[in-house]
Amino acid sequence: MTSILSALAQPSTTTTLVHRAHAGSAQWWRSAVIYQVYPRSFADGNGDGIGDIPGITARLKHLVRLGVDAIWLSPFYRSPHHDAGYDVADYRDIDPVFGTLADADAMLAEAHRLGLRVIVDLVPNHTSFEHPWFKAALAAGPGSPERARYIFRDGKGPEGAQPPNDWRSAFGGSAWTRVTEPDGAAGQWYLHLFDESQPDLDWTNPEVHEEFRSVLRFWLDRGVDGFRVDVAHGLVKEPGLPDFPAPTAAVTPPHEGTHGSEDGATGAGSLGPMWDQDGVHDIYREWHQVLAEYDGDRALVAEAWVEPLTRLALYVRPDEMQQAFNFSFLTSLWTAPALRGVITESLVTNDGVGAPTTWVLSNHDVVRHPSRLGLAVPGGKPEGIGVGDPQPDEELGLHRGRAASLLMLALPGSAYLYQGEELGLPEHTTLDDDERQDPTWWRSEHTSRGRDGCRVPLPWEADAPAFGFSSTGRSWLTQPSSWARYALDRQRCVPGSTFEMYRAALCLRREYHLGSGSLGWVDGLADGASDSLVAFVNREVLVVTNVGSEAVVLKGTDLEVLVSSADLPEGQAGGAEVAVPPDVTVWVRRREA
Ligand code: NOJ
Ligand code: CA
Repeated sequence: MTSILSALAQPSTTTTLVHRAHAGSAQWWRSAVIYQVYPRSFADGNGDGIGDIPGITARLKHLVRLGVDAIWLSPFYRSPHHDAGYDVADYRDIDPVFGTLADADAMLAEAHRLGLRVIVDLVPNHTSFEHPWFKAALAAGPGSPERARYIFRDGKGPEGAQPPNDWRSAFGGSAWTRVTEPDGAAGQWYLHLFDESQPDLDWTNPEVHEEFRSVLRFWLDRGVDGFRVDVAHGLVKEPGLPDFPAPTAAVTPPHEGTHGSEDGATGAGSLGPMWDQDGVHDIYREWHQVLAEYDGDRALVAEAWVEPLTRLALYVRPDEMQQAFNFSFLTSLWTAPALRGVITESLVTNDGVGAPTTWVLSNHDVVRHPSRLGLAVPGGKPEGIGVGDPQPDEELGLHRGRAASLLMLALPGSAYLYQGEELGLPEHTTLDDDERQDPTWWRSEHTSRGRDGCRVPLPWEADAPAFGFSSTGRSWLTQPSSWARYALDRQRCVPGSTFEMYRAALCLRREYHLGSGSLGWVDGLADGASDSLVAFVNREVLVVTNVGSEAVVLKGTDLEVLVSSADLPEGQAGGAEVAVPPDVTVWVRRREA
């Protein structure tokens, strides 16, 4: 760790170690880079305009070339698709739009043959309203065991016409829908924290536990390496379902003073009696045991919008899940104190429970990070962007997005990439509102544009119909014509392209064992620049991100730039000087004699 620092000429440099290299067992998930495939939008194998499993299998070699360790697939189960498959009607079958179980088995076998592990999505907070359990619950009537699998309650007020409490759906509108009883009368209400097509299960019911243990085994037996657990912080509700006056936002909007606070809080935590109840942990202990029956270090990753980070760390205690997405990092502002604060707090807190930190910048629920970073206030968690909204600066966003990715990929721990980020893909911020499919758009009465802009199908070939996404040119969301520049075939083997930058970073990350490495903050690298630098050493590599507006020049001897997020000025790209221009990340080591 000292060798790179001793190559620097700045005498006042100091290092503060906040995380030691992982010396224990080498479970793959501690340091893996995992690529999120959003099946609808990855690759369309049959030309109907919707991505599918054969399409994924055919493109797996792209991911091997990129250099990731594993893939996570968003839901591909039978579903009426009111929430893009997060409304599951059959947990043990593939939706015909995506293929068949045989296709899934073939994909799994091919991924494993290529050395890629496979994580699938598990949606345990709610089923689809087309799930046989929910249909049975409606048919069986109040007080039945069938209703006891969900959260049915009588309404309040005269004739029970008011919802049982004031909870709001995370997508907007009430979190309760009234049903018509089998005799035709207006009846009970059921809870749905999301769309009305997604009734919440009652996790106080042992039958629900038994069913999900069985679903886990169904997929473990087929060979999956793990599960991403949807809404992991929502399964247990506070007894009595007390009123909660604030909106039931899945994520609290960032507010003044949260970003960059000492405890790493960024506003990424959901508040209220429906989130992060202590009882959820019993479920994950149960599942930990199920996974432990299988060989090969199978893993659970929590999608839990929880703050402070000490609460998130509870999900990755040794007898619970293996990973939890770090949304505090994802929603951090693009400032040095905010980034340093959240990184330190994440590593220190997770070290306390012996878990790695799971870094992430983009997924299918948030504005893609190059676009977030191109906004007037870069970072945070903006709502979906559409025509008439202030538009991000695409070039600046790409420039910063690349720097953010290179920063993330140098951090010790595991990291998730969202499909298309290896191409530098921005959000589609001018999608026609008539095309929008996210229930957020209509449930919020057109006040929140929702998530379609980050779900647009990938561009593979610049000159092919639908940029090579489908052979027919069909695409379930229209791709912007300007996306030719991001197509994979315009970037492969092109020095300096975003794809080649990711590929180089993943290769170096592996070579220098950064994922299982250490983190020591470096201060005093350049006079007067401390507020604008995020600088650390991980093993032999010095990583510097300049979030300020002036270039910073590192001086020393034998400096070698391993990778940088942008071209560096000639004469200052190694040797005695390395310039780090604004919004650029560099990885530097000492050149060996
Ligand atoms: C989180 C998923 O990532 C999101 O896409 C979905 O809408 C909600 N959970 C509800 O399942
Ligand atoms: Ca298709």
